[in-house]
Amino acid sequence: MSEEIFAKVKQIKEEIENAQPQGAEAIEQFRIRYLGSKNILKPLFGEIKNIANERKKEFGQLVNEVKQVAEAQLEALQAGQQDAADQNEASHLDLTAPAKQMQLGAKHPLSITMERIINIFERIGFNIEEEREIEDDWHNFTAMNTPEDHPARDMQDTYYLKDSTEMLLRTHTSSVQARVMKREKPPIRIIAPGRVYRNETVSARSHCQFHQVEGLYIDENVSFADMKQTLLYFAQEMYGKDVKIRLRPSFFPFTEPSAEMDVYWGLETEDDYRITKGTGWLEILGCGMVDPNVLENCGIDSKKYSGFAFGMGIERQAMLLYGINDIRLFFENDIRFLEQFKSAR
Ligand code: DAH
Repeated sequence: MSEEIFAKVKQIKEEIENAQPQGAEAIEQFRIRYLGSKNILKPLFGEIKNIANERKKEFGQLVNEVKQVAEAQLEALQAGQQDAADQNEASHLDLTAPAKQMQLGAKHPLSITMERIINIFERIGFNIEEEREIEDDWHNFTAMNTPEDHPARDMQDTYYLKDSTEMLLRTHTSSVQARVMKREKPPIRIIAPGRVYRNETVSARSHCQFHQVEGLYIDENVSFADMKQTLLYFAQEMYGKDVKIRLRPSFFPFTEPSAEMDVYWGLETEDDYRITKGTGWLEILGCGMVDPNVLENCGIDSKKYSGFAFGMGIERQAMLLYGINDIRLFFENDIRFLEQFKSAR
């Protein structure tokens, strides 16, 4: 009886040694058959009782040996399988094939325009200040000398936060002027780029969100002539050395005197007539000498210091530079629009 069982085990051992399963599926079958939880060696243990006592140990050793053979065999099979896979992949590699095309991104036209403006002012020593878009009424209006009953404060024009009469989405980057003056001592020379919000009907010409770059220069003896020269330099760098500018008197609560600056765009095409309303001139910014009230509101001695400020819209300038005729395009993220700026800088 014992002999039969021993023979069976030896037969299984031989079977294992001769097995040549091909492919992952067959190898798995091999594993299940000889090493799985219901492998074919298991039932043999049930027959141990039929083996003479003095041979029980021998039987145990033999079964163990078979198990080890199966394990070694499985390991070898799996390694061979991996090699085959690697080789297969290598044989599919065509080292002469052209590389995959890299997808180049494009900068947003507003970013390009903004960066150009920032670069120009950085070169003459202006520092960049970025500030919060959610502002309080004081920095956005009160500090900037805008009276309580000014129409800009109206819910119609300003987005206030829900249930608040205090917190709002800044309506202009001029709020950064107040923030900087409160925390720094003159000389102050900064520009503040960023997004602003106004409750306006969205159309091809205007949007409820847009971008501005604010400028502020405060020191002793700063004059209107300094401002004009700075803005002329900016216009020349932005629009070319022979650009023409003009300053028209205007009004802003935070500057006195105030002006608006136009650049001469020309009257060569139909579009030029339309964009400039037939004058050839295009308004690009508001500016002026900082009102002494604003300096005092922010803790700066208006007898000792004076300064100029300006604020310009970015969308308008980007539209001019790139011939874009609808402001809404900037905010739609249409890839067909954005892709056109791949080579722009
Ligand atoms: N904050 C003004 C606006 O949004 C623009 C402006 C005008 C800013 C004159 C200034 C300034 O700093 O001096 O329309």
